[in-house]
Parts: sequence; C-alpha cells; structure tokens
Amino acid sequence: MTTNQGLKVAEDEHSLKAGSRGPTLMEDFHFREKMTHFDHERIPERVVHARGFAAHGEFELYESMKDYTKAAFLQQPGLKTPVFTRFSTVAGSRGSAETVRDVRGFAVKFYTEEGNYDLVGNNMPVFFIQDAIKFPDLVHAVKPEPHNEMPQAASAHDTFWDFVANNQESAHMIMWHMSDRAIPRSFRMMEGFGVHTFRFVNAEGKAHFVKFHWKPKLGVHSLVWDEAQKISGKDPDFHRRDLWESIEKGDFVEFELGVQLIDENDEFMFDFDILDPTKIWPEEQVPVKIIGKMTLNRNVDNVFAETEQVAFHPGHVVPGIDFSNDPLLQGRLFSYTDTQLIRLGGPNFHELPINRPVCPFHNNQRDGYGRQTINVGQVSYHKNSLADNTPSTSSEEEGGYVHYEEKVEGRKIQARSDSFKDHFSQAKLFWNSMSKTEKKHIVDAFSFEVGKVKSKNIRQQVVDMFANVDVGLATAVAEAVGAEFPTDVEESQVTETSPALSQMETVKLP
Ligand code: HEM
Repeated sequence: MTTNQGLKVAEDEHSLKAGSRGPTLMEDFHFREKMTHFDHERIPERVVHARGFAAHGEFELYESMKDYTKAAFLQQPGLKTPVFTRFSTVAGSRGSAETVRDVRGFAVKFYTEEGNYDLVGNNMPVFFIQDAIKFPDLVHAVKPEPHNEMPQAASAHDTFWDFVANNQESAHMIMWHMSDRAIPRSFRMMEGFGVHTFRFVNAEGKAHFVKFHWKPKLGVHSLVWDEAQKISGKDPDFHRRDLWESIEKGDFVEFELGVQLIDENDEFMFDFDILDPTKIWPEEQVPVKIIGKMTLNRNVDNVFAETEQVAFHPGHVVPGIDFSNDPLLQGRLFSYTDTQLIRLGGPNFHELPINRPVCPFHNNQRDGYGRQTINVGQVSYHKNSLADNTPSTSSEEEGGYVHYEEKVEGRKIQARSDSFKDHFSQAKLFWNSMSKTEKKHIVDAFSFEVGKVKSKNIRQQVVDMFANVDVGLATAVAEAVGAEFPTDVEESQVTETSPALSQMETVKLP
C-alpha cells in the first residue's frame, strides 16, 4: 500500500501520536490523506432515477437500416456494438427498495465507431407530461414531500395525486403506472421505450419519424402487489440481485430492438399528434420492426465508477439519428448535461472511463475541474493556420454530424396542436385492452395508492378524473377510498367493458 504520492505506507492501523496516551499529530500525512479522501467519497445522487443497476454487453444488428438511417452501427447485419445499460426506479433515493410501484428507467449507451449514442428510455411508452417546463413540478410532486421527506413510494401520497388531478395530461401514463407494468418481476422481463418521436435520416437526406422499443426475450412479467410488498421488506435489492446473478451464472440477458417508422409525408395521417409524448403509435397502425438484439453479458467491476458515474443524455446522437419537435424531448436536451455538471463535478466527466467514446475524440475544449487530458501544443481555437496547415473552409469535418434541415415556420407561441388536449382516448384504449384480472389489479392499485391520500378533496378529484377513462373503474375506486361516486359523467363514457361493480371485489383499506 502506498499514499497517493506513491510513498510506501508502514502503518495503517495507528495514527501518529505525541506519546502513547497523547493527541494525534497533524503531521501524520497518511492519516490526513486517508481521512480526507473518505470524507469526499459521496457525490450527489441523480435528481431522478437515483436507484439503479447496470451491466455491459453488446448490440448485434439483424437487418440493415440503410434505407432509413445512415447511422454506422445500423448498416451491416451482424455488426456488434458494445453497450452499457442502466435500469432504475425514478422516485426513490439511492438506497430505496427496488420492487416498489414506479416507472423503470431503461438507458442504453452504444459505444459506436462514430461516437456514443444514448437511448435514454423508460419501461412505459408514454410520459406524465407533454412539455419539459412541467418536469420540475412533476418531480416535486412525485418525490417525498418536502416538509417530512415521506414517503419514498412514488404514488401513495397527496402531492402525487394532487398533481395528477390538476394536470390531466397524465391520465394515460397513470393507467400504465397503476397497472402491473409498474411492478416488473425482473429487469430482464420488462420492455423499454424511447418514448419520444425521433428522426432517422438516410445517406440521401430522406427522413422518417421513429420510435424505439426494447422487447425482452423472456417476455414481459410482473409481480403481483402482495409479492412486491413482501419482497421489498425481505430483499430491497431484489432486482439488482436477479440481474447480477443471472449474468454471473452465464444466463445472459437479451432484449430485441424494434422500431416504428412513419414516413415524413405521413406526419398528419393520425388522429393524434405524433409528437405528443402522452400518446403511443398503436402497433396495429404502425407495426414494430425488429432490427437487432442486445445481450448483457458482463457485470460491472465497480458500481460507483460505472453505474453511478455514467452520464446518459438523449442528446448524445450519431449521424443518421436526429430529434423531433416533441416539446418534452426538446427540454430534456438541455437538462441532462446541466445536472451532470454538478453531479459529476464540472465539465470533464466525458473523460471518466465509462463515458469515453471508443473512437478518438478531440476538440478545442480544455482545462476545468478534474481535467485528465494534457492538451499539447500552442493552438486551441478554430479556425487557425498555425496548427492546421491548410485553414479549413468549412466547419464540418467529412462525415460530421449535420442537423436535419427541417423547414420550420410559425409564430412564437406557448401552445401545441389541439389533439394535445385529448387526455383520455388512449387512456381508455389502454383500459379496454386489459383482461379482467389486469383490470382488477388496476382498481386495487388505485384503491391502495389513492387510499393513502389524506385530502378528501383530492381523492374525489381523482375519482372524477378517471371517470373519463371508465365509470366502472372510477366507481370501484370511489367505493374503496370513501369518495362520492362520479356524477358529472356523460352517458357515452360508460363502456361495455366497464366491469360491473358486483363482479369486482373492492379492496379493503388497512
Ligand atoms: C435521468 C431529466 C423525462 C428517462 C434524468 C436526470 C435528469 C432528467 C435531470 C438525471 C440525469 C443524471 O443525473 O445523470 C428529465 C427531464 C425530463 C425527463 C427534464 C422531461 C422534460 C424523461 C423521459 C424518460 C426519461 C420521458 C424516458 C423516455 C430517464 C432515465 C434516466 C433519467 C432512464 C436515468 C439515466 C441513468 O440511468 O443514468 N432525467 N427527464 N426521462 N431520465 Fe429523465
């Protein structure tokens, strides 16, 4: 063992003292260095998705996507690209239990020969809000309440449901959140979704809108609520243990990558806006095309250095993959680097081993906290003729990323298309696609979670809101949480699939 200066250490159990019973001496540099480093071991946890676990692997392409995108890692069938994938819960802190009812993060970093591409998704295909400006409000409502830091659970408290009732664009996501999808059996058994609409651009400059899907080879499986609660108590590390152990024993974890594609000319062919992140593209209308497989086959060596220090960003793209004007995505493009600047201590976190691209990277950025690279030479500016023998005429390197030339026109406004105001059609679609047992689980989930809300007024608002999805659902929840049955509902809202109350055993609250 040596000090950080390389000096061999002779004594690591007793600090240097003035006499056998005297005070410790400031002079003991080894003690000071050891203690100082320990004192600085913690970094801030992620503001969301703090509790996560990750593994290394590879992505193999089945089928060339060259008709749609020029992304190098999507050209040659059989090409393998290294990946690093982090799964997470959203609301709980870094030490919280893993089998709670929550959304799961599903973030994949592809280390491509053209630079890192991050697909930063969730295990649900839609989101709570439509515009990034509401994200701080959403997270303040979801996280433990600020006056007493309770509860760790995302959805069993007043501020969560107060937000939902007053921001009704959340209706569709809440249906997923109250379903069995929010309590996955294993990270290996859940889907992943890019959620937003992105854009593929091919070598000829032709674009398609694209949504990304991960499909687990093991199929989608959930826990039931009673199991989830018991496991939370007995093994709060249940999901990471499952992932770790299956990789350790060679039972590697496989997900297929699928894409939904819409030709740019068909942008307005749907009765919803394809840029609305609270809407899915129904697979009957836009089928999912499976294009490759990810295999997670290596556990991390060190959770801090890899799982914690990894920095994902939906704006890390490669040529051939571009953004859409989804207003949620646009805001995310700002947020991730901004938070990582503080979480990872300054502007040089791209130099951390887990974040480094596998291809060479260089530019005129320099200095700053934690800088590892020794930039050599006199010149760190563009354009110049001191270092570059021939001054470049263009700022683009050959093969460099060129933003898609989308035509944009309009007046500066703070609104979106009218269909953004339709909060219930797809929430209903979701409910109507559920089996009787799944519906029962959803009613039970609402009853449990809303039943924890202290404010009678909020419980009532939630019941009234979800009567817009299904009256049977709302009535069953009303009965369980002591709210009035929904009254202000049009006859047309009562669907044939509404479970008759008599068939639906309601939950008894503790
Ligand atoms: C993590 C912001 C929506 C998926 C984060 C972090 C921030 C953030 C600040 C912490 C990043 C870090 O410390 O490294 C936002 C904002 C959103 C938004 C502002 C909306 C405006 C979404 C959506 C998805 C998503 C829609 C899924 C499609 C994730 C995932 C992580 C994450 C998976 C964890 C990444 C990891 O494992 O390190 N988000 N987020 N977020 N977000 Fe978002």
